[in-house]
This record gives sequence, C-alpha cells and structure tokens, in this order.
Amino acid sequence: MPAIAFFDAKTYDRASFDLANDRYEIRYFESRLTLQTAKLASGCEAVCAFVNDEIDGRTVGILADNGVKVLAMRCAGYSNVDLKAAEAAGLTVVRVPAYSPHAVAEHAMGLLMAVNRRLHKAYGRTREFNFNIAGLTGVDLYGKTAGVIGTGKIGRAFMDICRGFGMRVLAYDPYPALDAGIEYVSLEELLERSDVISLHCPLTEDSWHLLDADAFARMKKGVFIINTSRGALLDSTALLDALNSGKVRGAGLDVYEEESGYFFKDHSEKPIRDDVLALLVSRPNVLLTSHQAFLTEEALSNIAATTLENLDDYFAGRKLINEVRAGA
Ligand code: NAI
Repeated sequence: MPAIAFFDAKTYDRASFDLANDRYEIRYFESRLTLQTAKLASGCEAVCAFVNDEIDGRTVGILADNGVKVLAMRCAGYSNVDLKAAEAAGLTVVRVPAYSPHAVAEHAMGLLMAVNRRLHKAYGRTREFNFNIAGLTGVDLYGKTAGVIGTGKIGRAFMDICRGFGMRVLAYDPYPALDAGIEYVSLEELLERSDVISLHCPLTEDSWHLLDADAFARMKKGVFIINTSRGALLDSTALLDALNSGKVRGAGLDVYEEESGYFFKDHSEKPIRDDVLALLVSRPNVLLTSHQAFLTEEALSNIAATTLENLDDYFAGRKLINEVRAGA
C-alpha cells in the first residue's frame, strides 16, 4: 500500500479523503509543504499538496531525495510548483483540473452581490440591532456589463450566472472559444466598457499583475473587481489606490498575492504585518474571503476522487490525463 504525505491537511480534507480512500496509507500533516517540512514526506512515494504550499526547486529536491515519485496537487492551479525542477528531479506532477467550476463561479457572484449591496456591513449592523440602512446603497446589476477575463470552465459558469441576472457579458481570453457564442473583445476594450470585471484565468508569467495601475486607469469609474483566481493577477497596491480614488466601487477577493502566510489559519490573536492586506480588509467596500471559493461538498468529494484516481493511474503505469509539465 503506497503511502501519501498529505500536507496542509484540514478537517474537511481528511473527511473527504478518508471517505474516498481504501487503498493508500495517508499520513496527514497540518503543516504546509515548505523547505522546512518537506522531510516529513520521507518514506512516502506520493505527496499531496495544495495552493499555498511552497514547492520551489529546493523543496522539490528534498522530496526527490527522500524517495517521493509523484506530487498530486489537489487543486487546479499549480503556479506554486517549480515544474522545471520537478521534471529535472524525476518528480511527476498531477492535478485536479476541474472539480466544480460552479462552486467558484457561484462564490464569485456571491462576492459581487455582497460587495455591491454591502451585505457584510448589513449583517454586522443588524446583529447589533442597528437597523439604519444609510451607506448601504448598491446598483442594479441588471443591464450592467460584466467583463470576464478567462473563458475556461469557471469563467463560462460565471458568464451564465451573469446572463441570468440580465447582464451583458464581454470576455477576453488569448485563446478564445470561437464556437461558444461569446462576445470577445481586447483586454483594453473590456477594461474600458465593463461595470464588473471578474478574473478567471490562471496565473502565469503573462498574467502576473494583469490588472496594474495602467489597467485600473483605463477602467470605468465605479467598476467592481472580483478575483477568485490567483492574488497576483492584480497589483494589490494599485487596487487600494483605485479604491481610495473611487475608481473602483468595490472589490470581492477570494485570493491575495501574499496569502500564503495567512490564509487557512486563524490570525485573529496576532498582528497582521502585511499593511496592504490589513488596509484591504479594513475597507468597507472590500470583502475578502480566505480562498474558499472551491469549498462545497461536491467539490471536496470530486477533489478526493480525482486525486486518488490520478495516483491510481501513476502507480498502475497508465497514461496520466491530469499530468502537468513545464512549458506545456
Ligand atoms: P480553465 O483552464 O478551464 O480556464 C482558464 C482560461 O483562462 C482558459 O480559457 C485560458 O485560455 C485563459 N487564459 C490563460 N491565460 C490568460 C490570460 N493571460 N488572460 C486571459 N485569459 C487567459 O481554468 P478554470 O478551471 O476556469 O480556472 C480558472 C482559475 O480559477 C484557475 O487558474 C485557478 O487559478 C482559479 N481557481 C480558484 C479556486 C478558488 O477556490 N478560489 C478554485 C479553482 C480554480
């Protein structure tokens, strides 16, 4: 029975993997996978990791030196993995490309709804029996234009939701799906015309800080920004400036570019040393969730099933449909 070192394990991970697993020894570790913790994988042929594990070249080297043969990412994104180092070390990397695009798309709309109508503020007020509604004014989403950046599985699910709200939908994607009836425009045009901009593309060298100060300058005054993809797709300092100037009316963020030291842990008793994060969280027109867009029962069950199937394929020597490689 091959052993899997499972890093950054949370109660909900254990529950879904224990339910799906009958063939591996899973060693759960609460700590993230980092240079310091990689040795915990000693004696395991497989490692299971998540979005905020730090899988750089040195960490990969330690895993390989300790006999790890396969890295199973239990997520879609893999921007935190040094794929070139993995390939050089003979470490196969697999992932879960899709587990519930609806989970993420619905969360994106939830963030938009909450930020627009200030639901997070209203909740706090009524809990204190403050029934004053001044300061909670939103806009109708009906008739507004949503600009969707990235028209893969999640972007398209989000587009469907927006259409259900009676919104017009524009999209930008360097690899457009030409048969899908999507109105594609250039990124510049999308920035200029959209009332809501939602990011649904992967983080790559090309998309790093896709929304920077210049991009915010192009946008309509009063635009909403939604990011459920990866934090570094937008320049957080430029976003703060755009919020301060009123260019951005509200932001719903499920990701943050420096999230790895904070997200998934309770920091309520500790000082937040990241000033940009502290300022974003303190803004009344920003709602930040802690990378939870995927967190539905359906998604967790699909993640566990696909991760174990990926490992089955690897150990049986079958073709790996969910392998990721450098430059692929
Ligand atoms: P996908 O692979 O189905 O679609 C991504 C799309 O982005 C593709 O159409 C691709 O052509 C496009 N794209 C690539 N580079 C681009 C660029 N520079 N500008 C615009 N579009 C570009 O991926 P999927 O499943 O829709 O996921 C999208 C992203 O959502 C993932 O990369 C991941 O970062 C994020 N995600 C976040 C989760 C969360 O819990 N917050 C959970 C799952 C995914």
